[in-house]
Amino acid sequence: MIIAIDGPAASGKGTLSKQLAAHYRLPHLDTGLLYRGVALAMTIARQPLEDAALAEAAARNLKLDDLSDPRLRSAEMGGAASIVAAIPAVRAALLDFQRAFANQPAGAVLDGRDIGTVVAPHADAKLFVTATAEERARRRVRELRGRGAHADEAQILADIQARDARDGARSVAPLKAAPDARLLDTTNLDIDAAFRAAVALIDGA
Ligand code: DC
Repeated sequence: MIIAIDGPAASGKGTLSKQLAAHYRLPHLDTGLLYRGVALAMTIARQPLEDAALAEAAARNLKLDDLSDPRLRSAEMGGAASIVAAIPAVRAALLDFQRAFANQPAGAVLDGRDIGTVVAPHADAKLFVTATAEERARRRVRELRGRGAHADEAQILADIQARDARDGARSVAPLKAAPDARLLDTTNLDIDAAFRAAVALIDGA
């Protein structure tokens, strides 16, 4: 079984995908990490994120080991990933790996922005996970403060809105729900309720 989970930044799709992978005993790929990996490689090499040729080379040279770097998880790297993700050659360079992961015999859960539309249009179940930008910003703030980090809610909301606009407006594989995706709005759902709703949608798919 292939499960495709798409949605905007901080919608809860990462947590949900991990839980679904455990529930259905499937391997899981957080595809955002691939774009974050490219952004981190460019940042370490002090190269401009918009340089398409260098970003494509970074995507082709990405190693699985690179994806466990804790620096990938920062908000800064999320924003940087959104910039390299708008480069068509970067997306093309990362596609084969994602498709191979989706099509392994065991099946898989993949989460990202274009799983149901581009990476695995034939997925058995597709969810598009959303929440209002304000709720997503509140969750980010809670998560950061929970880790003892500083969080400016207005700034975080502005970053989320900028990232939504960039991910939704790019010409290649923009963030949008596949026509056959089931919509899961988690604005008023906690993690457990979102998980139960997702399982009900998938099992009913
Ligand atoms: O899901 P995330 O926050 O880790 O993703 C970081 C950025 O990577 C996101 O703003 C857009 C890009 N991305 C993408 O374009 N396609 C994907 N399948 C996953 C992420």
